[in-house]
Amino acid sequence: MSPKTVFVCQECGYESPKWMGQCICGQWNTMVEERPMKVKKSKAAGGGGEKSKPIPIQDVQSEHYHRMDTGIGELNRVLGGGLVRGSVVLISGEPGIGKSTLILQVAAAIANKDHGVLYVTGEESEEQIKLRADRIHAVSNKLMLFCETNIENILVAIENLEPDFLIVDSIQTVYSDEITSAPGTISQVRDCTNQIIRMAKTRNIPVFIIAHVTKSGELAGPRTMEHMVDAVLHFTGERNHEIRILRSYKNRYGTTSEIGAFEMNENGLSEFDNLSQSFLEGLDGVNEGSIATAVFEGSRAILLEVQALAVPANVGFARRTSIGIDASRLNMIIAVLEKKTGISLINYDIYINIVGGIKPEGTATDLAVAIAIYSSYKNIKLPSNRMIAFGEIGLTGELRPVQNAEKMIHESLRMGFDKIILPHKNYLKLKVDKDKIHGVTSIVEALRMIK
Ligand code: TYD
Ligand code: MG
Repeated sequence: MSPKTVFVCQECGYESPKWMGQCICGQWNTMVEERPMKVKKSKAAGGGGEKSKPIPIQDVQSEHYHRMDTGIGELNRVLGGGLVRGSVVLISGEPGIGKSTLILQVAAAIANKDHGVLYVTGEESEEQIKLRADRIHAVSNKLMLFCETNIENILVAIENLEPDFLIVDSIQTVYSDEITSAPGTISQVRDCTNQIIRMAKTRNIPVFIIAHVTKSGELAGPRTMEHMVDAVLHFTGERNHEIRILRSYKNRYGTTSEIGAFEMNENGLSEFDNLSQSFLEGLDGVNEGSIATAVFEGSRAILLEVQALAVPANVGFARRTSIGIDASRLNMIIAVLEKKTGISLINYDIYINIVGGIKPEGTATDLAVAIAIYSSYKNIKLPSNRMIAFGEIGLTGELRPVQNAEKMIHESLRMGFDKIILPHKNYLKLKVDKDKIHGVTSIVEALRMIK
């Protein structure tokens, strides 16, 4: 019988017996011919096998996870307090952002604690990694390098070396002999990830898998990989800016709201705890279109500078460009601003930038974005650069309260801000000294404070 092949969408994993120009997920030219996966007997995370049978939940022994210190506080924080044995963590990020640097530092820190570490690389040669390791002082005799991309050989090396920690850089370069399609295709990535996970659960060792992302920020290859692993961390930042943020999108052993902050310098990545300080560096004078704002990420408040530029559009449609905030959120803020203040931005290009390359989650930045746009459009400078604003804007122009306002106020006062504008509903509940704080009910009321 001739071996049957299927066409698999490299974006969503949809399988079809026939080639299609457009997949059902809407993407064009993403179908690649692959051999269907062999169904392997899967082993559940807890052991599984023939002996497994349903048990009452109260009889389940709640394991106390043994967490390994990664030697990097910010990474421990994102992982939920350290690395859990047997867990598989996916680290994704754009090329050149510093994934290999980060994990090499982790590898060295763990190796220096007398744990055996195996660093498998399909991306770079041993010499290249050694060069980097020399530069960031990550050399240890417990750290083994292995340039290999064949998963069967990698597993044999693990059998022989019995490492306490495994790193695979990157999953898109690894392939299995049993699958005919090229490395990086859905079947290869899925099968190799599966084999690594099975190994990690059986040997009870933690694994870091590096994965690339596409230009649009999606994980290259199957999204299904995200479902298979225990934690997914994204490493982001601007390449020409030193700050890097590690954010967790899924974590079976901790929260996903925590972020880790690093700074890239000539000796690798260093941990960074005074984020507000560095994000506000440019805010020393007053300029139109610029204001400070606060966000709450994980367990800390961070202050940022929001910049806006509103300039008359030259031809055709006015442009809306935003770095750091969601484009549809920006459109909504512009619409509310137009409706409530009577200004018309239809013929204006609008650019928004959250300085420092961080992409804050949530809506606390809305008010600052609106003020910055208004200030740039009207060419008015803020009364002082010690003014900070945060709050969510509703469709009717009202200001909606944000979570953790007290912590954001505390951070603002610590950084020397003396005029804090926030939603009235937050203001009412405050238990702190209110003389530097101004509660406002609507976007119009907030704008009155800068005129
Ligand atoms: P790298 O870890 O190779 O990125 P990735 O694995 O995500 O592709 O990091 C590459 C960038 O980091 C490179 O452009 C140079 C910079 N870098 C430093 O600035 N300082 C350093 O000490 C190192 C090792 C890298
Ligand atoms: Mg790399």
